[in-house]
Amino acid sequence: MNEQLINKDNLPKHIAIIMDGNGRWAKQKGKLRVFGHENGTKSVRKVVEACARIGVANLTLYAFSTENWKRPKLEVDTLMKLLVASLRKELSTLQENRIRLNAIGTLDALPAKAKKELLEVIEKTSKNDRMTLTLALSYGSREELKSAVREIADKVKNNIISKDDIDEELINNHLYTHDLPDVDLLIRTSGEHRISNFLLWQIAYAELYFTRTLWPDFTEEHLFEAILNYQNRERRFGKTSEQLN
Ligand code: FPP
Repeated sequence: MNEQLINKDNLPKHIAIIMDGNGRWAKQKGKLRVFGHENGTKSVRKVVEACARIGVANLTLYAFSTENWKRPKLEVDTLMKLLVASLRKELSTLQENRIRLNAIGTLDALPAKAKKELLEVIEKTSKNDRMTLTLALSYGSREELKSAVREIADKVKNNIISKDDIDEELINNHLYTHDLPDVDLLIRTSGEHRISNFLLWQIAYAELYFTRTLWPDFTEEHLFEAILNYQNRERRFGKTSEQLN
């Protein structure tokens, strides 16, 4: 219903989503938290397909943070299993929709099986050109910035670049997201108003959209509502309204 109202010429080029509320959704139903994650994968599927269909070029999902390793072992194991199962199950959907899979984070921290499966799907879908789906896995923005600073410091130390070469573009080129545009629209579900160490550099000018809907309840319609809301905002990038018109 909302889909027809979306202006296809003014789509966010990059949508990032903090998928939150799986645990609360399950609790409300008297089930274990992992039941919420299982149902969360259904929302992932719906949102990925809807983004590809309407023409969003980049979608990034916060699937697992560096802090999430502290959760109970059963929950961490289930999330990793869901990742492997989803990668296997959805490879054909990614190919049919010409979606390239990408991942950001300290991927070496993932269980060997999950990492292997992930790298295989990334390789198999690497030529796809309709949309890039990036999974943030064992991701933390401060960790990403720290590793960028270290790489740049090394280059200065070894005289590969000079201190004066350090500009925004160079920093950007050392982030995990070096091949992605800045985030235009950041969505967080479940009513929390936090960024939680997600893409701190990349959201500098993003429009933030918060909804009370819990992630397993998030559908295409909720996505379209968020995009419509984005399209009705004026993005000034520091300029005045008059300058834009
Ligand atoms: C947040 O809900 C969600 C997560 C930490 C994991 C997100 C994972 C999925 C949706 C499934 C796997 C993803 C892929 C890409 C296959 P929460 O557990 O923090 O919920 P709560 O705040 O209600 O406790």
